[in-house]
Amino acid sequence: MRPVLLALGLLVALAGPALAQSLFGATQDPLAGSRVFGARGCVKCHAVNGVGGMVGPDLGRIERPRSFFDLAAALWNHAPRMAERMRQQGIARPRLDAREMGDLVAFLFTLDYFDPRGDVDAGRRLFTEKRCVVCHQVGGTGGVVGPNLDALRQYASPIYLAAQMWNHGPQMAAVMAARKIPRPSFKDAELRDLIAYIGAASPVIAQGPLYVLPGRAGRGRALFAQKRCAECHSAAGQGGTLGPDLAERSVTLSLTQFASAMWNKTPAMLAAMKSRAIPVPQLQPDEMADVVAYLYSVRYFAQGGDPKKGVAVANAKGCLTCHALAGERGKPAGDLARAKGLDSPAAVLAALWDHSFIADPRPARAKAPWAEIRPGEMADLVAFLQSLRRPQ
Ligand code: HEC
Ligand code: HEC
Ligand code: HEC
Ligand code: HEC
Repeated sequence: MRPVLLALGLLVALAGPALAQSLFGATQDPLAGSRVFGARGCVKCHAVNGVGGMVGPDLGRIERPRSFFDLAAALWNHAPRMAERMRQQGIARPRLDAREMGDLVAFLFTLDYFDPRGDVDAGRRLFTEKRCVVCHQVGGTGGVVGPNLDALRQYASPIYLAAQMWNHGPQMAAVMAARKIPRPSFKDAELRDLIAYIGAASPVIAQGPLYVLPGRAGRGRALFAQKRCAECHSAAGQGGTLGPDLAERSVTLSLTQFASAMWNKTPAMLAAMKSRAIPVPQLQPDEMADVVAYLYSVRYFAQGGDPKKGVAVANAKGCLTCHALAGERGKPAGDLARAKGLDSPAAVLAALWDHSFIADPRPARAKAPWAEIRPGEMADLVAFLQSLRRPQ
């Protein structure tokens, strides 16, 4: 194994720093992803927020925070049991190509799969502490200076809240100033807890939840220019420098953290817009969803992995017991350095997804149990597979 790893180290070094690959490209489409979810039979076993099958977990109601790599790791780790269930239920093996996988990930992302659930009790306290209750009613209690917030229950997505709070921000700030109420800001999970409280306290509305539609990164990129965000922010290497660069952040953010950041930075942004004579843009919820999809594609929400560590992961997880690397001979599966079409993380995920259905080609003595992969390891592995320069 040693010489191979050495050779690989060299390959990685030649490939240079981690390539700035998008998590999902501008052509990947969460709306198409929602159709993949139905058409490929995921919905037969999984619900999303209560709608769908009950064999697997509800993908809208999973605890713990998530990034793309958490999802990738979860898919890999659960794959053997999922495949087993599919056989039992006579569900045909769903094949997913890179494009479908990308769409599916985009769909799950904008449906808030990646945000942990808020704490209703903490939200109730915050609603009072942040003085929202002075101006807003929820479930029959509170002031009437601002609109009743019961309707927010229908729009479970933080994208919707981010849009509404952005659009109404200047007006709210004026009313707060007039009433000498300090403008609140949100830390950590506070906004998420508030959303959970509003959802729990407001009456159920007959037609059920109405989600903000998943956005489209391509349209989001156009909006980013049209709404003049690009005059102050750069993303994907272009744009202004008055505001922070929104691409390739070093931390992982959730949608609610994005909504909080938009709210918290509103006063500074309004001041900057005034100084440049840029009119404050309004963003409809579907436009906000598009901007989010675009920011996701430039990695505002997640950091990438380290290709050098990825080599060690591939080795530790037994990938190299089946796969050859860099021309090595005698392995039962293909050479990873020659695999085609691994040009996005979604493509790697699609390739990994197929593994739960392949017959183990190793001789009996070399067979090993399915190795679980943690999200950080998955990020490194994906970075590694993408960093390999392949013959065209
Ligand atoms: C035949 C039923 C079945 C089908 C079809 C199915 N799954 Fe699953 N899925 C399961 C089961 C059961 C689990 C839990 C397995 C376990 O606990 O290890 C699971 C787990 C998962 C998880 C991990 C959830 C977590 O804990 O984070 C994800 C993500 C997932 N499935 C996505 C999908 C997607 C996407 C599709 C469609 C391409 C799909 N599943 C199709 C049964 C299914
Ligand atoms: C001083 C009064 C005041 C306080 C305090 C206040 N708001 Fe508002 N809020 C308003 C007013 C007035 C509007 C409507 C602004 C407009 O018409 O543009 C509004 C609008 C909103 C909207 C848009 C509602 C819709 O249906 O479009 C949301 C969401 C909202 N507020 C959330 C909050 C939250 C959460 C808090 C606490 C952190 C809060 N507000 C605190 C006065 C307030
Ligand atoms: C006139 C300049 C300007 C424009 C136009 C502008 N912003 Fe900003 N934005 C800023 C500044 C300045 C900050 C940082 C404020 C601070 O850190 O106090 C900021 C902060 C942010 C943040 C928080 C970043 C973080 O993670 O901390 C986000 C998200 C954001 N802007 C998104 C947008 C979007 C989306 C648009 C277009 C609808 C936009 N901005 C338009 C100047 C601008
Ligand atoms: C039990 C043997 C086995 C193990 C372990 C295994 N694979 Fe595979 N893998 C295969 C087989 C068989 C294929 C089908 C195509 C081939 O022969 O390369 C495949 C296909 C692939 C492909 C697509 C290649 C292409 O040309 O389209 C990728 C990428 C891949 N595997 C990565 C991995 C990674 C990363 C790991 C470790 C987490 C891993 N594999 C573990 C057997 C295995």
